[in-house]
Amino acid sequence: MENCLVRVNYLVIVILLTVLSSCSPGELNKLLLVSFDGFRWDYLQRVTTPNFDALIKDGVQVKHVENVYITKTYPNHYTMVTGLYAESHGIVANEMYDPSLNQAFSMNKMDVYDSRWWDEAEPLWVTNQRAGHRSGAVMWPGSDVEIRGTYPTHYLLYNSSVSFEVRVQKLIDWFKSKEAINFGVLYWEEPDESGHSLGPESPLMNAVITDIDEKLGFLVEQLKSAGLFDTMNIIITSDHGMTAMSTEKIIELDNYVNGDLYTIIDKSPVVAILPKEGKFDEVYSALVNKNPNMTVYNREDIPDHYNYKQNARIMPIIIEAKEGWTIVQNKNGTFMLGNHGYDNRLPSMHPLFVAHGPAFRQGYKKDGMRSVDLYPLMCSILGIQPSPNNGSLSNVQDLLKQTHPTQPIPHIPQVRESSYAWVLGVLLGIALVIGFLIGFVKQVTDRQLSVVPHTNLEIVQPLLQADLHL
Ligand SMILES: *[C@@H]1O[C@H](CO)[C@@H](O)[C@H](O)[C@H]1NC(C)=O
Ligand SMILES: *[C@@H]1O[C@H](CO)[C@@H](O)[C@H](O)[C@H]1NC(C)=O
Ligand SMILES: *[C@@H]1O[C@H](CO)[C@@H](O)[C@H](O)[C@H]1NC(C)=O
Ligand SMILES: *[C@@H]1O[C@H](CO)[C@@H](O)[C@H](O)[C@H]1NC(C)=O
Ligand SMILES: [Zn+2]
Repeated sequence: MENCLVRVNYLVIVILLTVLSSCSPGELNKLLLVSFDGFRWDYLQRVTTPNFDALIKDGVQVKHVENVYITKTYPNHYTMVTGLYAESHGIVANEMYDPSLNQAFSMNKMDVYDSRWWDEAEPLWVTNQRAGHRSGAVMWPGSDVEIRGTYPTHYLLYNSSVSFEVRVQKLIDWFKSKEAINFGVLYWEEPDESGHSLGPESPLMNAVITDIDEKLGFLVEQLKSAGLFDTMNIIITSDHGMTAMSTEKIIELDNYVNGDLYTIIDKSPVVAILPKEGKFDEVYSALVNKNPNMTVYNREDIPDHYNYKQNARIMPIIIEAKEGWTIVQNKNGTFMLGNHGYDNRLPSMHPLFVAHGPAFRQGYKKDGMRSVDLYPLMCSILGIQPSPNNGSLSNVQDLLKQTHPTQPIPHIPQVRESSYAWVLGVLLGIALVIGFLIGFVKQVTDRQLSVVPHTNLEIVQPLLQADLHL
């Protein structure tokens, strides 16, 4: 009868081995985050997009993503990988001024490489690496900058001339390499550039959207031929949408206030104004309530729902244009047929969201989500502990397959009682205790009743032995 106890203990060992083997690096969930800059959510309805449709059919689609204010490229790309509002991650605009650093930041200049702009937050590629994994980044804003002392394991220096095909090939190489990455980010400049120059409603945009669909098709094709598609979780999203401008809707600030009294730090449609020393009151009162098509905020009075106040890089006066309006200092200012940056509650500012892979449900659609929720969603897929953020996994948990195993989280110092590692430990403990209890009870019962052999255990035994030879 002692056999019985031994067999039950085999069973416990097998459960342990199974759980442990699922922790091996080869089993890491893979995730690729793709951003097609300026892809407004409803572009998908403009032309036929067979490659998007195929992913949506077997994956998930969220119609609108409510992004963060201001609805510009740099703030929103950093939100996607941190789960933080711009005021909390510190990349508050594409063009910034930091009074304590006494420095300017412009997305088109080398000063983006100064880590101090980015260090207020930790992007997901860094967190993934701190958890002992490897990340790869292709042209994602900030991904070629040293942040909190770390670069992505693999990355390319930003170069807009590098083709989409080359970008995809790099990521595939990194996912396939011996020391494979488990997390990749991929950035592409279109359809933003065309949206600005043509205007989002131009019929010429149709060809641009078709081209993006073909690029997605290329990506899927390459993943398939590399044998990566079936195990890859892919998220296709964007930073913002786009709305049409009109030459009839231009506001010139020179009509209201002398341009010598202030500096324009960031341009239309959310103009960041730094008044010259001692000139705040003069500039503010000259602008506020003077034109119904622009709202002038003293930084302290920016509405709470924008979550755009608590950062010294947000300028003392913020002027927001009404949708479709352009604010310039005078006729010398630049005008574009399409633009973004406006109120993040406007549907025209919202990007798309499509996801596909073993972690995601199939054929599931949802009306809306917030872009800050993307970060906890990705952490869950990657099985890493999220840093403090403004999103919530519970808002987007329904996108994930309920049966999808959550990965154990490796032991890192900030792991607390809520961590999966802790839960896993408790579960294993319980399994062990139950296993031994069953063994003990069976042994006692067997002794007392002297019953017939347990045929079911006999059937299981050869399998157990086979497993234990591993
Ligand atoms: C950018 O990429 C293009 C195309 O690959 C290449 O010809 C060019 O030299 C690159 N520029 C820099 C600065 O590396
Ligand atoms: C504000 O916009 C409305 C609607 O487009 C327009 O009729 C009005 O003239 C504009 N006001 C100013 C001061 O430009
Ligand atoms: C526009 O720019 C030109 C050339 O830089 C300059 O001479 C002119 O004064 C500017 N106009 C205004 C209204 O500032
Ligand atoms: C966003 O998250 C950060 C980090 O936890 C926190 O400091 C900040 O207060 C949050 N913002 C809001 C509006 O809750
Ligand atoms: Zn843009």
